[in-house]
Amino acid sequence: MRKFILFFIIILFFGCGNKESKQTEYVIGFSQCIGSDEWRKTMLDEMKRELSFHPEVKLIYKDANGNNHNQINQVKEMIRKKVNLLIISPNEARPLTPIVEEAFNSGIPVIVIDRKTSSSLYTAYVGGNNYEIGRLAAEYIASKANGKTNILEIMGLPGSSPAIERQRGFYEGLKPYPDVKVVKQVYGNWLKEIAQQEAMQLAQSKLNIDMVFAHNDQMALGAYLAFKKVTPGKKIKIMGVDALPGAQNGLQQIANGTLQSSMLYPTGGKEAIRTALNILNNEPFNRENILKTLVADSSNVQLMRLQADKMNSQQKDIERQQKMLEEQMEVYNNQQIILNILVISLVFAIVFGSVALYSLTENWRNNKALEAKNEEILLHQQQLIEMSAKANAASEARFNFFTNISHEFRTPLTLINIPLEELLEDRKLPETAKKHLNMIHKNSSRLLRLVNQLIDFRKIEYDNRSVNPSENDFIAFVKDIANAFKDIAKKRKIDLRVISTERELRAWFDVDMLDKVLFNLLSNAFKFTNDHGRIHIKIEKDAETNTIQIWVEDNGAGMSEEDATHAFDLFYQGENDRSKGSGIGLSLSREIITLHHGSIQLKSEKWKGTSFHLILPLGSGHFGIDEKSDNTTNPYVIDDDTFKLYTIELEPTNHTESSLTPVFNTLKEQSILIIEDNEDMLTFLKQRLSSDYEVFTADNGETGLNEALEKVPDLIISDIVMPGKSGISLLNSLKNDIRTSHIPVILLTAKTSYEHQIEGMQAMADAYISKPFNMNFLIESIASLLNNRLLIRSHYSAELPVDSRINMVGKLDKKFLNEFSGIVESNIANENLSVEKICKMIGISRVQLYRKVKALMGCGVSEYIINKRLRKAKYLLLNEDLSISEITYMVGIASPTYFSTLFKSKYGCTPTEFKKEKTT
Ligand code: FRU
Repeated sequence: MRKFILFFIIILFFGCGNKESKQTEYVIGFSQCIGSDEWRKTMLDEMKRELSFHPEVKLIYKDANGNNHNQINQVKEMIRKKVNLLIISPNEARPLTPIVEEAFNSGIPVIVIDRKTSSSLYTAYVGGNNYEIGRLAAEYIASKANGKTNILEIMGLPGSSPAIERQRGFYEGLKPYPDVKVVKQVYGNWLKEIAQQEAMQLAQSKLNIDMVFAHNDQMALGAYLAFKKVTPGKKIKIMGVDALPGAQNGLQQIANGTLQSSMLYPTGGKEAIRTALNILNNEPFNRENILKTLVADSSNVQLMRLQADKMNSQQKDIERQQKMLEEQMEVYNNQQIILNILVISLVFAIVFGSVALYSLTENWRNNKALEAKNEEILLHQQQLIEMSAKANAASEARFNFFTNISHEFRTPLTLINIPLEELLEDRKLPETAKKHLNMIHKNSSRLLRLVNQLIDFRKIEYDNRSVNPSENDFIAFVKDIANAFKDIAKKRKIDLRVISTERELRAWFDVDMLDKVLFNLLSNAFKFTNDHGRIHIKIEKDAETNTIQIWVEDNGAGMSEEDATHAFDLFYQGENDRSKGSGIGLSLSREIITLHHGSIQLKSEKWKGTSFHLILPLGSGHFGIDEKSDNTTNPYVIDDDTFKLYTIELEPTNHTESSLTPVFNTLKEQSILIIEDNEDMLTFLKQRLSSDYEVFTADNGETGLNEALEKVPDLIISDIVMPGKSGISLLNSLKNDIRTSHIPVILLTAKTSYEHQIEGMQAMADAYISKPFNMNFLIESIASLLNNRLLIRSHYSAELPVDSRINMVGKLDKKFLNEFSGIVESNIANENLSVEKICKMIGISRVQLYRKVKALMGCGVSEYIINKRLRKAKYLLLNEDLSISEITYMVGIASPTYFSTLFKSKYGCTPTEFKKEKTT
């Protein structure tokens, strides 16, 4: 669009600018010697008239006012301005010659008009033949003379060429007439007043004058006035030059009888301009343009005046027409602009029209496409609705199945729990059995709670179970529930408080339902809060909204943003929930709060804590009449079973170190590090594995890694999902650290997806076992992995060449083995090669080196070095002719005696015996 407008402006600009550019094609400078008299005014008018046909030419006009100096300066200025052509009418010939030559030489064409210079350096000349004028004037005067005739000659400016030439021609013309004589010559400088003064003096003198020849009509008129005044009765014939039409001019004076005659001297203005244009346009032109002359007297003056008048009127007609033409041009130009605008507008209209048409068609096409898309979307929508209905039906069926199964589970679980609790009461129960039973109790209770929650949820969600509210003191109710957690809080040194602005707060709620919400929130808070942490329940009454505001806040592990947004989703298990959360508790809580016409929200920040905000309406107006319970007066009772189900898991597993370790704690050859954040699982595994292995434990990835570095165990079992460092990240760290890279790692986790398994394997897990697992399978896996190590070890200790060793160890371990054996090899003659030195060279601690060598090669570091020395010695004894002490020195053993002792203990004979036996 902008481009179009720009184009439009450019067209307009050029459309209007045409005239302007034509006017400035050429500049002609015209230097006039004096511009005040009629003759020269006529000359200028003629020039202008001629130029009016050439608007492309500009005329610069300068009047020197009869002053040579002025004229020289004016010409100089025009040369400086670089006019395209100069027309000069020099005031006097000689003084003006140099500047005219300078102009000509500078390359500017020069036309000399009327008066000449004294040089031939000019481009063209336009003017009358002044010599001829003088001569014809003489002949005419002589023809009119009557016997002896005395003539007064009044000449122009002394140095001007017409004055000189006219005088010469006049003199020559009179030669054949001896009776006709010039008796006096005076200079009138072309001016009437001067001529009048000169004539006055002569008229008053005794000199007899019959006729006067003045070089121009103005001076002739001056002479007439002088003689008329001094000798009024005497009729003196006066002849002038110029014969200019117009009042006070030559022709009029002849017609009046003031002057007898005049020589026609055309101004040449028109001719000068025509010649100038020819020159400028590189067209042929005449260098000398001599204008015709004739005598004007009473015989032809009327005709000449008529002609002049005619010409004048024609001239005026031309001027009028020219004016009209200009006006027409103006109109034409304006019309041209309008036409341009119209054409451009038309182009715009066509362009916009086409664009509009195009967009219309496009729109139509798009609409069609959209309609088709719409239909497609509708179809998809329909399909989705159908699919979601099917999915809903399927999920309901699944849910039904779960609920049914849950119902089925409830009875056996209850039947497990009851005798179990009785059994646990038995004080005679051995400690180990009690511990096992405790764990069974915890887990069966947990199962029972989940089953109950599932059934409750089902009741609310699908069976539209409504609330059964009664009026009770809400503060007391919350305090009672919190009280149930008092013992656990005390044991774990958790700051548990109920902070309320009210002492008592009567509210309508379903006791059996709301206690589940609070139990759930509190048990969650306890699960995720560390010992010495804080769990606060704040209660406020908001009079403005007539609600109870409850906050259950902890400073525990918190949740990620992702987990917090999905916390209330059914079956959602966040990264923190792990096996502890089923994804039912919070969904159920929300359903219960919704049934109470309230709301529940949560705010949580990872590692900072979680805060649940509950709002419950006060009063009972929000419940339907049929919903309200009748037993409003009965005090509520908190269901002890429910409480137990929610809190049993929170009880710390009651075992002491001594109970885990057998009484006769024999030193185990191999060690295992278990990294698991589930305390029960950790305890369970430790207990099961302690009989065969030395077991170290850690409850998170960070401590696990530190333990691994410090203890360098023979095998590591790690969970994948743990707070902080994950199992995969731990595995990466272990496998990329030379100190631990050799340790086989078993990943043990509830995550069963293949992606997790692949991820684990990629991080070089040696085995991946998913929960729930078979303990025997785990034990076998541990044994098999440790056995593999032994296999590798036997290969290494067999001291086969490096490249034939089996490919069962990682890159980092191969590097370590190469480095280690390389150091020993190259230092075999060094008696002082110590474990410390090797540790320094490899960059690991003594324990780490020892464990690594033991793990990979099954022997101690020193043992390995001595074996190397002895093997080398054996080789030397067999293949080289060296003395025993030489060999002792070469294998870096302190003394031949010590060498002999060592050799004998390894090979059963002394070196000397060995050598003898082999050589004989
Ligand atoms: C005008 C005029 C004319 C004369 C011419 C000579 O200035 O005096 O009357 O013919 O100049 O150059």
